[in-house]
Amino acid sequence: MQPLQWNGKSLLVLDQTLLPEQEVWDDCDTYELVAEAIEKMKVRGAPAIGATAAYGIAIGANAPDALALDKGPYLTYLDEVCERLAKTRPTAVNLFWAIKRMRGLIETNGDLSVQELAELITREANLIAEEDVRLNKAIGQNGLAFIPENARILTHCNTGSLATFDYGTALGVIRAAHEKGRVQQVFADETRPYLQGARLTAFELHRDNIPVSVVTDSMAGYLMQQGMVDLVIVGADRIAANGDTANKIGTYSLAVLAKHHGVPFYVAAPMSTLDYEMETGAEIEIEQRSADEVIFIGGKRMVPEGVPALHPAFDVTPHDLITAIITDQGNVEQPNTENMRKLK
Ligand code: MRU
Repeated sequence: MQPLQWNGKSLLVLDQTLLPEQEVWDDCDTYELVAEAIEKMKVRGAPAIGATAAYGIAIGANAPDALALDKGPYLTYLDEVCERLAKTRPTAVNLFWAIKRMRGLIETNGDLSVQELAELITREANLIAEEDVRLNKAIGQNGLAFIPENARILTHCNTGSLATFDYGTALGVIRAAHEKGRVQQVFADETRPYLQGARLTAFELHRDNIPVSVVTDSMAGYLMQQGMVDLVIVGADRIAANGDTANKIGTYSLAVLAKHHGVPFYVAAPMSTLDYEMETGAEIEIEQRSADEVIFIGGKRMVPEGVPALHPAFDVTPHDLITAIITDQGNVEQPNTENMRKLK
């Protein structure tokens, strides 16, 4: 199940805030609508956000008003489109990676006409989306090295088809392992407050007949203590040069629990999630989202009026808690600056 459909003119975005109850597709035909879809988390997950931003630039580049501009103003306008999309969410580096790739393309093809540039940008957006699926399948194959027979796997958030253009990263590894008959059980952390695990991971895996049970985030320690988890695998929003990994809030707690119980802890991500410009995870900006997303569940107030709530949307897991990082280019065991450099 893909979260995005490009129809040649606009981007259809599956509104993930409504899943699993409703499958509603939003037709985003302006770059502003694309930016809002990212901000409101109708589309989410690092690689999906990157592909969405690329299509947002393509939609902006092909807007009739924009195509009527002279080259100079057109380039200034494209810059504004990129700026707008870059302001949507701060943590997932794939967003900035996709925008940087588009800016590079525009710069190196400065001699093209406005029309030709718009076509080139559209082709690049399609390429980013297509590549994503190929890379996810490579991650899946590389991850098999760490999945034993009859594996009982705990995962967090949603890292599947819905978080990418298709197939998934950490869920891609689970999918590849399932294809080999190695998956006995997946435990999907509910993932408060947005419930990506309960609503999205369970939805995807159930649909694909991969055995999944949902657990609340606070049950992970119990499961490990009972010997019910063979490994943990999660995705990433940004991995620093030393292997420190930003991912959905709650990932760090899982890694600490896994270390305590001797359970291996894996991170799976495409190379576009690696940010070698950040030496450590301390430099990664953590998105702070609205407290209302914690206070209300399904529109119902869960916290007394007048009581504030916190909502950091991500946390950083230090590299020494990570057994291996799995990428499309290979795996890094015992990630640290030196070992991560080998991937680069
Ligand atoms: O806030 P979200 O839902 O965009 O956060 C998603 C995650 O944290 C995922 O684990 C990460 O982006 C990897 S998705 C392949």
